[in-house]
Amino acid sequence: MPNIRFEKIEKSFGSVRVLSPIDLDLAAGEFTVLVGPSGCGKSTTLRILAGLESPNAGEIYFDGNPINHLAPKDRDVAMVFQDYALYPHMNIAKNMSFALRLRRAPKAEIRNRVQRVAETLNIAHLLDRRPAELSGGQRQRVAMGRALVRDTSTFLFDEPLSNLDANLRARMRTELAEMRDRLHKNMIYVTHDQTEAMTLGQRIVVMSEGEIRQQGTPEDLFRHPANKFVAGFIGSPKMNFLSGEFVMEGDRLWVQGDGYRLPLSERTHARLAAHHSRSVDIGIRPSAFGAEQAGGAPIRLDLVVSEYLGTHSVLVTRCGASEVLVEHQSVSPPRPGTTMTFGVKPDDIMLFDAATARTL
Ligand SMILES: Nc1ncnc2c1ncn2[C@@H]1O[C@H](COP(=O)(O)OP(=O)(O)OP(=O)(O)O)[C@@H](O)[C@H]1O
Ligand SMILES: [Mg+2]
Repeated sequence: MPNIRFEKIEKSFGSVRVLSPIDLDLAAGEFTVLVGPSGCGKSTTLRILAGLESPNAGEIYFDGNPINHLAPKDRDVAMVFQDYALYPHMNIAKNMSFALRLRRAPKAEIRNRVQRVAETLNIAHLLDRRPAELSGGQRQRVAMGRALVRDTSTFLFDEPLSNLDANLRARMRTELAEMRDRLHKNMIYVTHDQTEAMTLGQRIVVMSEGEIRQQGTPEDLFRHPANKFVAGFIGSPKMNFLSGEFVMEGDRLWVQGDGYRLPLSERTHARLAAHHSRSVDIGIRPSAFGAEQAGGAPIRLDLVVSEYLGTHSVLVTRCGASEVLVEHQSVSPPRPGTTMTFGVKPDDIMLFDAATARTL
């Protein structure tokens, strides 16, 4: 199984730049998730890797060997397409076995593999039907099955769960995680869903506007986002951002803005003492608002709406003119309009340069 390297891969459609030069190193056997908002270039990246689009510049290497010149069929790659791309006139069994039949694999082997994969995906009872006779979610699983019956080194999945209902999606996510641990193949998985990215990815590559914003383990991205985009994209509910500025008071560095004023940790102070007039954005995760008694610095928030979710509630509040989401453990939050005081620990405050959006 090869390791895969993108070197300065660039792609434009006409005058529209879709991928800025991107560099990417994927270790052999890794499950990598490409995640980012719609239109950021995820599918294009996969299609270039599969050989279905040519880059305008740059090279892709498998184990150090350039592969740009190879036709899709010679790349040892199987892809699950975002729009399924099933053959409408073939039944499901034929769709799934298409690549194996092309390679003239023995009939019994084809039958066994199709049956096994179909059972895993819970579509074994549909093998005689045609794609038009299936629901969207069933078609999506067939598209996945068609790739999985192949014995390639590298699997590319383009949003393979997007059309499934919530239950089925959770179940398929578990299946995929098991498959990831069992197969140890190169798997590159595209989604715009950060939960899928966090739960499946051994490494996550966050993209926006044709650029890679950060790559790392799920924990890296959650705990040490490189910029405001990644901080806001990874984590649910989303991180709250408030604009503010540094102020020195006595020997302590604070950050203050519309409706709040919070002390920063000594460590942050030591790092940033030189920047005390610079404007910043602060980021606080909804889970970081604790009880005031628990030792954080106080912040007062006006409750707008409370969304009850069973084990906890998400409070939609206001701090000055900004909306702030709070994950609240109490099952009976006060009435809208109430002002609540929470505690925020200095270590739970992230700081971003207001001009560049980089993490400070
Ligand atoms: N064949 C094409 N011709 C012109 N523009 C294209 C073509 N394919 C993609 N694009 C444009 O390139 C950009 C990236 O498209 P891409 O399909 O890679 O996005 P994506 O990240 O997969 O989005 P989504 O999550 O919606 O699937 C989009 O702005 C899209 O409109
Ligand atoms: Mg896409």
